[in-house]
Amino acid sequence: MLRIDNFSLQLKGSDGRILPVLEDVSLRLEKGNCLGIAGESGSGKSVLAMSIAALLPSGAVHARSGDIEFGDCSILSADEPELRKLRGHKIGFVFQEPMTAMNPLMTLYDQIVETVYAHFSASSKAEADSRVMLALERAGFKEPEKFLDSYPHQLSGGMRQRAMIAMALVLEPELIIADEPTTAIDAALQVQLLAGLRRQIEQERRSMIFISHDLGVIRAVSDQLAVFYAGCLVESGVTSLILESPAHPYTADLVAAMPRLVSERKLPVPIAGTLPSPDRKPAGCVYSDRCRHAREECKQQRPKLRKLAGNWQVSCLFPLHEGRA
Ligand SMILES: Nc1ncnc2c1ncn2[C@@H]1O[C@H](COP(=O)(O)OP(=O)(O)OP(=O)(O)O)[C@@H](O)[C@H]1O
Ligand SMILES: [Mg+2]
Repeated sequence: MLRIDNFSLQLKGSDGRILPVLEDVSLRLEKGNCLGIAGESGSGKSVLAMSIAALLPSGAVHARSGDIEFGDCSILSADEPELRKLRGHKIGFVFQEPMTAMNPLMTLYDQIVETVYAHFSASSKAEADSRVMLALERAGFKEPEKFLDSYPHQLSGGMRQRAMIAMALVLEPELIIADEPTTAIDAALQVQLLAGLRRQIEQERRSMIFISHDLGVIRAVSDQLAVFYAGCLVESGVTSLILESPAHPYTADLVAAMPRLVSERKLPVPIAGTLPSPDRKPAGCVYSDRCRHAREECKQQRPKLRKLAGNWQVSCLFPLHEGRA
């Protein structure tokens, strides 16, 4: 359903520098599946999500190469009317910051119904209303009628996140991309909300991509996992297999740094050092200057993404193992 092949992206920095923010990313997502994207802040998760939904402002893009195909649409070569159809009906986007994405002067009902009228032109009021109520229920509002007349500032952080999800769901997209959709909610609620979304997605053969810093939430909700570091896809495959025995040292360090993922008695081990900015990446493997396993070769050549067993991929010259099916 979604195929990304050797996708690279360079953006223009504010001072005119050219920033390689994504390098040679290849990924697949099938219908009915849920892909979790993990990685530190600045690793390129949002720019990838925005590239898939064709939401990056063209003025910010210096160059793109490779392919992103969604169904039969090639996103990098599609024209504007095609992209509009894609953004409206096929791909729904839940943004990181609900306060900036919602109109502060409109009630919850008005925001959502406006989207319905914009995309389903022939809707009657009754039909539009029932779409709004259904979307709110699916997004986890227990008694949606109580909130219809609320303005964004009257809703809690969690409710605003649910409202964003409802706004994406109301268009019944084939793919939902949620960029840190639930950071305002505590982890248990996050899992509950995302697990509900995922069940629907599976039943209706839709797909979901969600981006999170929290590997615990990703483990609870996604069946596929992609781990990014400094604009590179370092590892991807089946979530449970990767988290059980990561093949890339960075994934292993990320797992060890997550308190809720390691056993009760083990203390989380933070990763020393910081993520390099896009114009200061090491010449070899992007993780080589922080990696405890790095050898001389790692500092000289950038490893290519390669296949282990099944759909497991890793970009490391010396992975921790060769994959298990
Ligand atoms: N419009 C833009 N113009 C130039 N550089 C950008 C732009 N948007 C993002 N970047 C840069 O691209 C890199 C990746 O950013 P991105 O927002 O995708 O990270 P992220 O993984 O989503 O981080 P976070 O977890 O904090 O949301 C960063 O170095 C960022 O500074
Ligand atoms: Mg982001």
